[in-house]
Amino acid sequence: MLSIVNPNEENHPLNNPKYKFVIEKENYIYKTIMSKDKVQIFDTTLRDGEQVPGCKLNTEQKLVIARRLDELGVDVIEAGFPISSPGDFTSVSEISKIVKNATVCGLTRAVKKDIEVAAQALTHAKRPRIHTGIGTSDSHIKYKFNATKEEIIERAVAAVSYAKTFVEDVEFYAEDAGRTDNEFLARVCEAVIKAGATVLNIPDTTGYCLPEEYGAKMKYLKENVHGIDNAILSCHCHNDLGLATANSIAGVINGARQIECTINGIGERAGNTSLEEVVMILRQHPDLHLDTGVNSKLLYDTSRMVSDSMCMPVQPNKAIVGDNAFAHSSGIHQDGVIKNRETYEIIDPKDVGVTESAIVLTARSGRAALAYRAKNVGYELTKLQLDEVYKQFLNFADNKKEVNDDDIHLIVKASKIQNLAIA
Ligand code: KIV
Ligand code: ZN
Repeated sequence: MLSIVNPNEENHPLNNPKYKFVIEKENYIYKTIMSKDKVQIFDTTLRDGEQVPGCKLNTEQKLVIARRLDELGVDVIEAGFPISSPGDFTSVSEISKIVKNATVCGLTRAVKKDIEVAAQALTHAKRPRIHTGIGTSDSHIKYKFNATKEEIIERAVAAVSYAKTFVEDVEFYAEDAGRTDNEFLARVCEAVIKAGATVLNIPDTTGYCLPEEYGAKMKYLKENVHGIDNAILSCHCHNDLGLATANSIAGVINGARQIECTINGIGERAGNTSLEEVVMILRQHPDLHLDTGVNSKLLYDTSRMVSDSMCMPVQPNKAIVGDNAFAHSSGIHQDGVIKNRETYEIIDPKDVGVTESAIVLTARSGRAALAYRAKNVGYELTKLQLDEVYKQFLNFADNKKEVNDDDIHLIVKASKIQNLAIA
């Protein structure tokens, strides 16, 4: 605690370089936090994610995940598509009752009955949102609706206006916006904002866009839609070309302030933007001055919770939450990480809820890794002893994918070294 004495006095704590540094650092952190724009995280694990074949969940399972998403700090939980089945209706309705902080959202088509049913399912939500919309690309207009552009705008406006009679918060999606020409998209956006849309979702439904193109689309809408500042632009990207996360980041760099995403990136076909990736990208790049309200320490556990209940394994090399995301196996990398983690890691594993980085022993590992792992299981090896054990290790590792702790005991024993120190 700093005492209140004259700061001009030589012994005042503010003149102590130690405290001065602390105060300057805290001011800096405070200013950085205050100057950051918040990007809303709209989680659609229970809607777009659950559409995936084999990922179907029952209401109980969905409630467990919804509770966790709320705890994780997402801003919006898209709980389902209430008209699609009685089970989905019940899930949205039950989730609405238990979610404490997040907005709960239900999906609809631009169809009156859908909107009525969604509104009914959301009755108990503290913060209800109806997510309605229609296809706007030439292909959707021609093949799905056999309509004109004017008719699409009319239907979009009618859907938003009708949804507004039930809830204040109405998000509009322009399906296949990624392949919709920007001029027409801007007309649709302007019309639905006038009708009261609070959020404009610009989905790259088919995962077609390049990051530059998707970013430019957001910029175009920001600059050409009247009333755009009365609504939030939202990114909803699919991963058909592996660009969902990159496109969402390009979207927020160009003015969007909501990202729609799923845990582990699950979703239709190749999936959606991965929640854990966008959260950590914004966290690791403070220069973007964007952040989310997500508690990153729950990311790993949430990933496993979703993977287990959906029986959908997480690929080992998945960014942020894959088993190998913090595992090092080449000798050069291991040597660096043992000396200082930051040589080969940009994220502290603890920040995403992973206990520690893993040093995996394979035939590509070097002496530093072997000494480190041997010490972890109790052997303090001298340089000469390590040379001996390493020879045995290489013979062993050439015949095995990965050397585990039990193997280390066998290898040390087989080396028959004298005066072994037990750590
Ligand atoms: O990908 C998409 O266009 C969607 C909409 C229904 C929002 O999931
Ligand atoms: Zn989608």
